[in-house]
Amino acid sequence: MDKADKIAELKKIEAEMAANVKLPLRAEANLVFGEGDVDCRVMFIGEAPGVNEDRLRRPFVGRGGQLLDNMIRDLGWKREETYITNIVKRRPPENRDPLPAEIEAYKPYLTRQIEVIDPDLIVTLGRFSMNYFLPEAKITRDHGRPLSIDGRIIFPVYHPAAALRSTQMMETLRGDFKKIPSVLAGEFKIEMPPAFASGLPAARESKKTDPEKTEQAGLF
Ligand code: URA
Repeated sequence: MDKADKIAELKKIEAEMAANVKLPLRAEANLVFGEGDVDCRVMFIGEAPGVNEDRLRRPFVGRGGQLLDNMIRDLGWKREETYITNIVKRRPPENRDPLPAEIEAYKPYLTRQIEVIDPDLIVTLGRFSMNYFLPEAKITRDHGRPLSIDGRIIFPVYHPAAALRSTQMMETLRGDFKKIPSVLAGEFKIEMPPAFASGLPAARESKKTDPEKTEQAGLF
């Protein structure tokens, strides 16, 4: 799909979401669809918008967002060269954790969003986003390990907001971030947990993980 088609398709998905009166959180919060370069190589996926994101209708614009921007900049990239979104696209009240029913309700839209953007790498920010793709994964064990699911590479890292609350998590998050370019360059061993229904759209054939380069890790 060329860039213009991707932009048009994403606009369509966003409009469909806005029009869907059955979507949870619709009455209390704004839609924060996501933003960035639709031709990016790396897509960051967080949990759900917070108060600042809800107000500005943009993902990761609070303190966690500033940290994310800084870490992206430290890699020599610009935020606008990546794509940033969330699993749940409206703010849960009082920043509570998203409910399973909310994650399910927003899932078809995220699935299509990923399919259209078709990134080389998905970096999940925090436990909720990681478990969306890898229900059996544990963030303390699996952060910083590139895993191949349905032909896509998922790289779980700690949530920036969690890192802001703990020096140790901050160091770990920064360390994991530094690995991203090597993961993209194919310099990292990509581990492959057993297949399961993740709801993740399959990557284009050209981007499918080379089975020669992957290893059945027997992780889960
Ligand atoms: N936390 C998230 O998970 N997403 C945002 O957009 C902001 C904070």
